[in-house]
Amino acid sequence: MKSSEFEVYTRRDIEIVSGTGARVKDSRGREYIDCIGGIGVASLGHGNRILAHALKKQAEKIISVSNHFYNDKRTELAEKLTGLAPDSLNRVFFCNSGTESIEAAIKFARYATKKHGFVCAERSFHGRTMGALSATFKEKYREPFKPLVPGFDFAEYNNFESFKSKINQDTAAVIIELVQGEGGIYPADKTFIKNLSMFCRENNILIIIDEVQTGVGRTGTFFTFEQYGIVPDIVTLAKGLGGGVPIGAVLVSDKIPGMPGRHGSTFGGNPFSCAAAVTVIDYIKKESLIKKVSEKGDRFVSLIKKNTLSSVKEIRHLGLMVGVELFCDASEAVNKMQEMGVLAITAGENTIRFLPPLVIEYADLEKVAQVLTEVLRY
Ligand SMILES: Cc1ncc(COP(=O)(O)O)c(C=O)c1O
Repeated sequence: MKSSEFEVYTRRDIEIVSGTGARVKDSRGREYIDCIGGIGVASLGHGNRILAHALKKQAEKIISVSNHFYNDKRTELAEKLTGLAPDSLNRVFFCNSGTESIEAAIKFARYATKKHGFVCAERSFHGRTMGALSATFKEKYREPFKPLVPGFDFAEYNNFESFKSKINQDTAAVIIELVQGEGGIYPADKTFIKNLSMFCRENNILIIIDEVQTGVGRTGTFFTFEQYGIVPDIVTLAKGLGGGVPIGAVLVSDKIPGMPGRHGSTFGGNPFSCAAAVTVIDYIKKESLIKKVSEKGDRFVSLIKKNTLSSVKEIRHLGLMVGVELFCDASEAVNKMQEMGVLAITAGENTIRFLPPLVIEYADLEKVAQVLTEVLRY
């Protein structure tokens, strides 16, 4: 297949043209169980009628309102998000993507603290624009674009002493994912996060939790930090929030002062994407999706674990963020799964990553586990 698009992605040889629930179809009419979901984006699955209806209604009413005016949908979404968060996270900035939410968080932290430094984690992924890229660990992503933004350092994930040793007088914030997604599905250790959060509090360092991939129910709670017993100063969201419509959000506490005229976004918080996010939040609640996420993730993992597969090194998961690490490169297994009607994606080193829509049926998870087992038996 050839296209006039600029080449930055490695492309698979199928063309996805439609979808329903957790299933998608290619241009030849072949159906797949979609455990990529736009990389953790299609939270309500594909072709969701309620989402489609809400978008149609909003598009007919108004799509675009400058941030110089109030808008009812933007206000509604801000209220919903702050309503779901602890009291201290009481304001939201809207943007259009995960990387933009990290850019905003970096700027907010520097502005609030008047300090410059950030300590991030090894294996972290926070995005590809210059600030977010500076917080991203992998040298392959960073190297061609240096010099990056100065002031970013990296500590070993799940190692409190390592973080402590990197934090200094000029550290504005720690930026961390509670389950490293692109890095290979590594959940954070609870004691590590508690110690880190306490240390940051005692030393006036902000804690920024990147929930771009883990947020909006993906791991079994709306925000993953709820499971860690901490309250961050800044939280970033994107991916699943719009159910496929681009939107990013940054929740902040009172430690972050407003900064009129010093940050902004033309498209951020437009009524169309806010209508999508409002619908996603309402749908998740109405269908009690979050409670089912943990059950589904656990069931899926227990099905894989039932079969002892010598090629599997480790299985890591939290809710419907599942990583199966192999002893060898994972791309061959991913390709074979695709041939057998299951879409998954790699992450980190040698890991197969599953991020199915939250609405995926148990029967489909069973089928995915079956296909995975068959593929790894070779
Ligand atoms: C944890 C995390 N932060 C930030 C990003 C960047 O998001 P986006 O691709 O929407 O810019 C990603 C994307 O994978 C992510 O997983």
